[in-house]
Formats: sequence, C-alpha cells, structure tokens
Amino acid sequence: MKLLLLGSGGREHALAWKIAQSPKIEKLYIAPGNAGTKGVGENVPLKADDFEGIRAFVLANKIDMVVVGPEDPLVKGIYDFFRDDAALQQIPVIGPSKAAAQLEGSKDFAKGFMQRHNIPTAAYQTFDGKHLQEGLDFLNTLQPPYVLKADGLCAGKGVLILPTLEEAQKELKEMLGGMFGQASARVVIEEFLSGIECSVFVLTDGKGYKILPEAKDYKRIGEGDTGLNTGGMGSVSPVPFADQAWMQKVEDRIIRPTVEGLAAEGLDYKGFIFFGLINCNGEPKVIEYNCRMGDPETETVMLRIKSDLVELLEGVAEGNLASRSMEFDTRSAVCVMLVSGGYPGKYEKGKVITGIENVEGSVVFHAGTALNAEGQVITAGGRVIAVSSYGKDKAEALTKSFTEAQKIQFEGKYFRRDIGADL
Ligand code: AMP
Ligand code: GLY
Repeated sequence: MKLLLLGSGGREHALAWKIAQSPKIEKLYIAPGNAGTKGVGENVPLKADDFEGIRAFVLANKIDMVVVGPEDPLVKGIYDFFRDDAALQQIPVIGPSKAAAQLEGSKDFAKGFMQRHNIPTAAYQTFDGKHLQEGLDFLNTLQPPYVLKADGLCAGKGVLILPTLEEAQKELKEMLGGMFGQASARVVIEEFLSGIECSVFVLTDGKGYKILPEAKDYKRIGEGDTGLNTGGMGSVSPVPFADQAWMQKVEDRIIRPTVEGLAAEGLDYKGFIFFGLINCNGEPKVIEYNCRMGDPETETVMLRIKSDLVELLEGVAEGNLASRSMEFDTRSAVCVMLVSGGYPGKYEKGKVITGIENVEGSVVFHAGTALNAEGQVITAGGRVIAVSSYGKDKAEALTKSFTEAQKIQFEGKYFRRDIGADL
C-alpha cells in the first residue's frame, strides 16, 4: 500500500514510525514532514491543508490511503473534499468529515453534542457579541475560577482560566470584541472542574471502535506545572488512575455514547477521536474533544501499540474495525520533549542539533526540525525533539529518557525533569 500522511510534528513522526513498520507498506509519504520523518519515508513539500496540491500528488502517485495528523485539514473538510471528488472518492481518508470535526472545531458544538447524548462534562452556556450582558450576568452566578473558551480553533490558545470575576468579565468583553477574530465571535463559559487530566484515544470506523492506550500530557513550560502553556512538554502511558474500573466508566458513559451519537446524528467519522478527560473524584468528565491524535501523547501511545497500525487503519477504511485485533505492549512508555530556549515565548530557530546518533535504546521523534543546506539537522520550532522510551515501569522509562535527552545538544535546549512525577 502507498500511504500519504499529512502533518509535520512529533505526532506525525511517531505515526510515520509506526506505519512504516507495517509489512503492508510499500511506500510512505509525509507532507510536509520534518527532518525525522525523512528517515522512515519520503517527505513531500506540500502543506497539510493544500487540498489541490494533495489531490494532484495523490493521483500522480497512486496513493491508496491518506492519514491526517493535525486538526486543521479536517476542520477545513479534507474528508469531504475526497468524498465529493469523482477521482478521489475511492481513496480512504482517515479522519472525520467536516461536520463531525466540529467536535474539535467548535466548542459550542461539542458542548451541545455532549448535552444531547448525556455525556458528562462541565455545565456551560454560550454567548455571542449581541448577548454580552447576559454573558456578564452568567459569570456573576458562577464561582471562581472562571473558564472562558473561544468557540473556534485558536491553535491551543483559546481557553482562558481567570481567578477573579473582574478579570473574567474583562476577558469576556475582549474575546467577544474580536480578541481571537472570528474564532471568539462566540464564547463558551463553563464550570471549572478540578482533578487530574488524562487523554484517551479511540479509533473508529463510525460503528465499531478500538480504545488505544491512554496517556497523560504535561502542558506547562515549568516544573511543578508552572508557567505558560505549551504544545506539550512530555507524556506518559499508562496513567495509573485510569485503571480498569475507571476505563469502564469512560467507555460506558463517554466513548460508546460518543460513537453512537455521531452515528445517530449522521456525522461521518472514520478516524481518531481524542477525549480530553478529567478525573473528578473518580468520575470521568470530558474537558474537550479533538478530532485527531494528541501531541505529545502519540509519541508514547505508538510505542504501546503492538499490533500493525496499518491493519487497523484498513479496518477503519473498510468498516470492519470491530473484527480486527489490537494488542498493547504492557510496558510503560514516556516521552520527554526538548524545546528551544525561550519557548513558548520568543525563541530562535536554526540551531544545529548534535548527538542524536548517540542515543541508544530510546526512540527519537523529531517535532520542529529541518535540514539546513549542509544537511545538518537544525531547530525549526519551539518543540524540537521528543525522546521516547520504554521501561518495565514509569520510573525506568523516565530515567532512560532523561539520560538519553542529555546526549542531544542544541543551543538553548530545555526540558522538564519532572514529567510523570505527579502520578
Ligand atoms: P482545551 O483547549 O479545551 O484543552 O483547554 C485547555 C486546558 O484548559 C485543558 O487541558 C484544561 O487543563 C483546562 N480546562 C479547560 N476546561 C476546563 C474546565 N472546565 N475546568 C478546568 N480546567 C479546564
Ligand atoms: N496534547 C494535547 C493536544 O494534542 O491537543
């Protein structure tokens, strides 16, 4: 099979690494990919949301399947673009339709969906600019802290958690006044939930589903979960509190009602569903849905899937996923993200990265890397490299990743040394 994977981050390198291990793969292309994906497939200089460019490439290269890494192309309707084109129709796209991708693309849609299907989540109301006063009044009825979410995609920046009513009211005015452009034309105000978060991933063909290994990610830049939010500083799998009893609740109250709800509403979904969950005194609730895999969770989850991922993706495409088997690796897996100095604020790119070849026994996934004119690997983003490791337990895997992380050098390199320490 010839497979085209869209995207360019650590998540895509991890997906590409796993896909390339399948004996079914004759050729793997990644568009646009990064310096790491080059090692497991062929990079194609196309943006993941250049639909016309992708169309031409897919036809010229007789691609058999397209797997979509990031949310952007999905929310923009790449699934529908293929479905509605006579020449592309037969080529499966792993990912939801545009309508179903609203689970991530519109917070208000996701909340309404959960309400319709009785899926546990924080209480909420949505307001637009015409109803600012009602929004301010609603804030008045809530307890601090206050959670404000821009309805649309904001590259992970659209959620504000404010400690005081004054700040919440001020931010609500700014959001509805265009702080995130069209994305914050509507704002979801919701109840604050407290607990530990956990990411659960499901692969579905719209009828059946497989639950992938769960993971926990670390979003803040500083140790002890302090400082600014990032795209993710590391992840661990499994998550100790996500035991069998808890996961049974997740399946019964959240996963099954979601998959059935999508089908009942006629929303075509053939891909990964990411459930961002929070454990509130033993009860799982949904913080958010994403219509793709998580990053940096994928950099540990892929290590824990023993089965052939392409075989499972075929099950999605053919609508017989339930009949396919999935086996997990029972070891622990963790990933530690090496980031550029200054990230998530201002940082420099183009720093030469050395020492990757000295890493032994861990898997190095590239995130923001590129090759310079001399063929050296250089930094090309805030999050640069994920060092992923197995261990008989979390502690062993972490020790391994921290040790190997020291061997990779670039100017300004930073990583959190407390990944997994809270569990
Ligand atoms: P999201 O973009 O929806 O993932 O939100 C970003 C982060 O904000 C989440 O990962 C949570 O840590 C936090 N968050 C979002 N909604 C809530 C909530 N209702 N209660 C507490 N924390 C939340
Ligand atoms: N790790 C969170 C995300 O991918 O959105």
